[in-house]
Amino acid sequence: MARSRFQAPTGTRDLLEPDTSRIRAAVDAFADKAGTAGFGQIVPPMFEDSGVFVRLGEASDVVSKELYEFEDKGGRSIALRPEFTASVCRAFAELRPLVPWKVWYVGPSFRYDKPQKGRYRQFDQVGAEALGSDDPELDVELIALAWRFFADLGLTDVTLMVNSLGDFADRPRYLEALTAYFESRLDELSEQARATLVKNPLRVLDSKRDVAVAAEAPILADFLSEEAADAFATVTAGLDLLGIPYTVEPRLVRGLDYYTRTTFEFVSSGLDAAQTAIGGGGRYDGLVEALGGPAVPGVGFALGVDRTLLACDAAEVFPAPSVGVEVWVVSVTEGPDGLALSEELRAGGVATGRAYDGRSMKAQMKAADRSGARIAVIVGEDEVKSDTVSVRSLRGDLPGRPEGEQQMTVARSEVVASVSALLG
Ligand code: HAM
Repeated sequence: MARSRFQAPTGTRDLLEPDTSRIRAAVDAFADKAGTAGFGQIVPPMFEDSGVFVRLGEASDVVSKELYEFEDKGGRSIALRPEFTASVCRAFAELRPLVPWKVWYVGPSFRYDKPQKGRYRQFDQVGAEALGSDDPELDVELIALAWRFFADLGLTDVTLMVNSLGDFADRPRYLEALTAYFESRLDELSEQARATLVKNPLRVLDSKRDVAVAAEAPILADFLSEEAADAFATVTAGLDLLGIPYTVEPRLVRGLDYYTRTTFEFVSSGLDAAQTAIGGGGRYDGLVEALGGPAVPGVGFALGVDRTLLACDAAEVFPAPSVGVEVWVVSVTEGPDGLALSEELRAGGVATGRAYDGRSMKAQMKAADRSGARIAVIVGEDEVKSDTVSVRSLRGDLPGRPEGEQQMTVARSEVVASVSALLG
């Protein structure tokens, strides 16, 4: 086939049926769970003043390398959102809602990432954020919400990793120890890690090329304040109480720099090694303030919809719903009977397809067969004269009718009721 002049931009795809129906079903399930837990939906803009996202951390790839940034016609510096948390905090700072403010969201995020399976430049996230309380039980409730969502999809191979990054006040001592450690092993670090070390030593822990050195680095758990340690103990006790399994991963750092205290990540063993994270989140107690709002704490998570569904594929769970038509209208009359019948059936809630362009009976029956419909509703000149239609099974006997009956005649005025009854 000749290559078309335009292709979808690198790292993006056209999502089609049945994937689109499956995504909608997953999002509906998430919306349902979030609503049950007291979260209302927020739809923030897809782009913001770039400054909103710079707070995510200049040392993070998401900001330093992957931001889709441009100047708009008014000379403003704009960026497509790489995630929702910063927008939610910007909205909080702007709108000052009553606390606790619990919101959930769904939509595309944009990162100029290196595309591969499970890693796209436009990908969908669902997530939830709760602002205005530093109660660690809220951290547990957020983790539980994501956990219930995965469980309801049928995903059982999900591992939850949790860690505490402590309070900002705990950081300097730890960063000092961490920097001293990495400096003592500088010649073993990759060039990239050495550059990162100057900007943010925490992120060296996350460097895929420096796993061996990172594995022996000092851990933040040994530097936590009493309050942060107590909060983390409440989180793990809460997870125990709810029967949610987890592993404490003392070197878990996240790709964004705003986190304090609890951080967590969900990984699925069914995915390729580089993209096992199907979701993650944590506390970000200083972010709203950094965006010019009041000093309110926050906690939340985002899940990658694309990756979650890839994990479902690997586990053979949450199949795509069937989206085909149930009935195919075949019309070989001179008049617009095909149009009238199809619209009548659709108005009656029956998923109906038909062929166009006045095709022959044979061609229409072939199309009916290919469509996957169970029943054909046929109208020809004879049927018009007797004010009836013929209803024919496309797969075996007519459902709910005596054995061997594959076709029946139905009064034109009864067509929706009869077909609905046959389809059960
Ligand atoms: P994140 O870990 O950067 O966190 O992204 C969350 C999830 O989005 C990832 O676990 C992954 O499943 C998915 N994801 C990220 N990048 C891509 C990509 N290029 N292609 C496909 N999927 C991707 C956040 O975004 C934070 N806002 C989470 C959060 C909310 N923290 C607190 N509140």
